Amino acid sequence: MKLTLHIWRQKNTRAAGQMVRYELPNVSGHMSFLEMLDVLNEGLIQKGDDPVAFDHDCREGICGMCGMMINGKAHGGFKGTTVCQLHMRHFKNGDEIYLEPWRAKAFPVIKDLAVDRGSFDRIIAAGGFISVPTGSAPDGNAIPIRKQDADLAMDAAACIGCGACVAACPNAAAALFVGAKLSHLGRLPQGQVERDRRALALVQQMNIEGFANCTNIGECEAACPKGIKLEVIARTNRDYIKAAFLERPEPTSGGESVDRWPD
Ligand code: SF4
Ligand code: FES
Repeated sequence: MKLTLHIWRQKNTRAAGQMVRYELPNVSGHMSFLEMLDVLNEGLIQKGDDPVAFDHDCREGICGMCGMMINGKAHGGFKGTTVCQLHMRHFKNGDEIYLEPWRAKAFPVIKDLAVDRGSFDRIIAAGGFISVPTGSAPDGNAIPIRKQDADLAMDAAACIGCGACVAACPNAAAALFVGAKLSHLGRLPQGQVERDRRALALVQQMNIEGFANCTNIGECEAACPKGIKLEVIARTNRDYIKAAFLERPEPTSGGESVDRWPD
């Protein structure tokens, strides 16, 4: 099929960018979206032009590196699909496709479609981890965990840190990403000791990085390729308020529920 691409080209963070038009005459429906861009870039390199910069790594939907706005939608707007998992069979001959980088103050453009998501790394570095030595993987039944908690922690752990939630949000809020990290660790006994500190640190770093606040619009959930639910934002708010303003009891563990503030 023949496609017309309109791609945001920007030499570096400070340079002014612009949309540039490209014709691509022989695109197979079997190609992935990134393979289609590879073909475009091979042609540009052969002509001595600068290839289009875009992020990618695993190309299997698990690393979170890829991401761009396709026709105004984060990752293209196909449910549960990262750009690398998007295939050209979803497009048809003669289509015009508009490609832009994530738009958010906290994700400055590095070049073309590649943005700097170091702000996410700094949020995780502020406390999105468990700082006790965990050793090798324990037996599955060594620490009893409610099935409900294990399932919800696993759902939240599916976040790949792609940033689509920020790009889709009219406020450029990172609430879904932060909520996923807090819900993942806050549901498990290993995450209890640092739960208060983690909630305070991640929210504080999110504000420092320039992400705006959540106003419950829900675009983030709709754009998330990993199905992270808005409920994680409610958990963030609850953990943050408890940690910042209320005295908390000692954590419990073992066979009891680890959720000290049940839903
Ligand atoms: S919450 Fe979803 S959209 Fe946001 S970074 Fe994680 S996987 Fe990407
Ligand atoms: S390249 Fe890894 S998720 Fe797309």
